[in-house]
Amino acid sequence: MSSRILWIKNASQLATLASGVKGPRSKSDMSELGLIENGSLLIKGNKILAAASAGEIEKKYAAILKDAEIIDASGRLVTPGLIDPHTHAAYGGGREQEFEMRLEGASYMDIMNSGGGIHATARMTREASEEELLEQTAVRLDSFLAHGVTTVEGKSGYGMELETELKQLRTMKKLNEQHHVDIVPTFMGAHAVPPEYKGREDEFVDYIIEVMLPEVSAEKLAEFNDVFCEVGVYTPEQAERILEAGKKFGLLPKIHADEIESYGGAELAAKVGAVSAEHLLKASEAGIEAMAKAGTIACLLPATALYLREEAAKGRKMIDRGVPVAISTDCNPGSSPTTSMPLVMNLACILMRMTPAEALTAATYNAACAIRREDRIGSLEEGKQADIVLWNVKDYRELQYLFGVNHVHSVWKKGIKVVG
Ligand code: NIG
Ligand code: FE
Repeated sequence: MSSRILWIKNASQLATLASGVKGPRSKSDMSELGLIENGSLLIKGNKILAAASAGEIEKKYAAILKDAEIIDASGRLVTPGLIDPHTHAAYGGGREQEFEMRLEGASYMDIMNSGGGIHATARMTREASEEELLEQTAVRLDSFLAHGVTTVEGKSGYGMELETELKQLRTMKKLNEQHHVDIVPTFMGAHAVPPEYKGREDEFVDYIIEVMLPEVSAEKLAEFNDVFCEVGVYTPEQAERILEAGKKFGLLPKIHADEIESYGGAELAAKVGAVSAEHLLKASEAGIEAMAKAGTIACLLPATALYLREEAAKGRKMIDRGVPVAISTDCNPGSSPTTSMPLVMNLACILMRMTPAEALTAATYNAACAIRREDRIGSLEEGKQADIVLWNVKDYRELQYLFGVNHVHSVWKKGIKVVG
């Protein structure tokens, strides 16, 4: 491993996110950004050696600074690479015609129930060759990186039959090796009910448990297991069976919960010990309480709420009640075709009344917790991966305040400059 020393100096603010609180943060802990004015960051090879004020670094590391390569941040904000903990980025095709249909009044679920929506993307993903799927997904990862995102979670779920599910997961595995953006894979066989199983949902659940999960696990293609628990899709009972079965294969549970209707998804997330519950637009009071008690992370997707013209999840209330909140794009071709985490941070503030500091924690440290990577990424601390973004702003609040513009100046992944 290279022992090259990089010295990023003259940051107007270095938002380290090193608050001392280990594990998912909530309440006032989400406001602690570990801000250092006039900060310096030392990187050795692919890891962070130190993050501190200019004075401290110059005093403590004088001996090695003389050989360091200097990056002058010139009064810019420096943060950890953003993390997107919920994407469906490995898909084929697009659904721009459905965008128009929805503007004319069709609902997301109507379109899906008449064979479009997730089913349409499943057809396009099945038809795409491995090379095509890889190329299309790589373009999206390039865009994530250009917006300051250095790690994403990625879900399967556009197969709903074994071969395409495996194709999606293998594509993510390849891209994880080839692309600068790290991808953390999630199996989501239960993303919709395949048409041929309509009315026989339990049989498809058996198929997922008896056929798909063992294959995915044998090839070590996923770390998490997710289910779309929704009225007309999978019931809480079916979701529980799939998530419990996944645990036996070492897959950690996640749930698409209470997105369209209140359906007990938040309660189920707490019950099965899910790492996170996603969406939660319609989560019940009892569900929020249960998640706070269990320490379940709420992964909130305000861009999806905006795109579906729905009221966003109650992010403010969840944080105040002690639920740790992460945020994500939900990047997918139907309900949120975006790769911009900075936009999502803005929407977290505007639509969910989160503060800029909370939004930054939700897009970095808590996002790392939602994919169980907080030991490696999500904050700028000694020994962690050198995933760093320099922004063309001075104050961290400008990231959320000056919206709709890409403020990325440069991005460093594992100590290597990959953007800018
Ligand atoms: O998280 N709700 C289910 N799944 C995705 C949408 C997938 C799609 O429409 O293609 C979501 O919003
Ligand atoms: Fe999703």
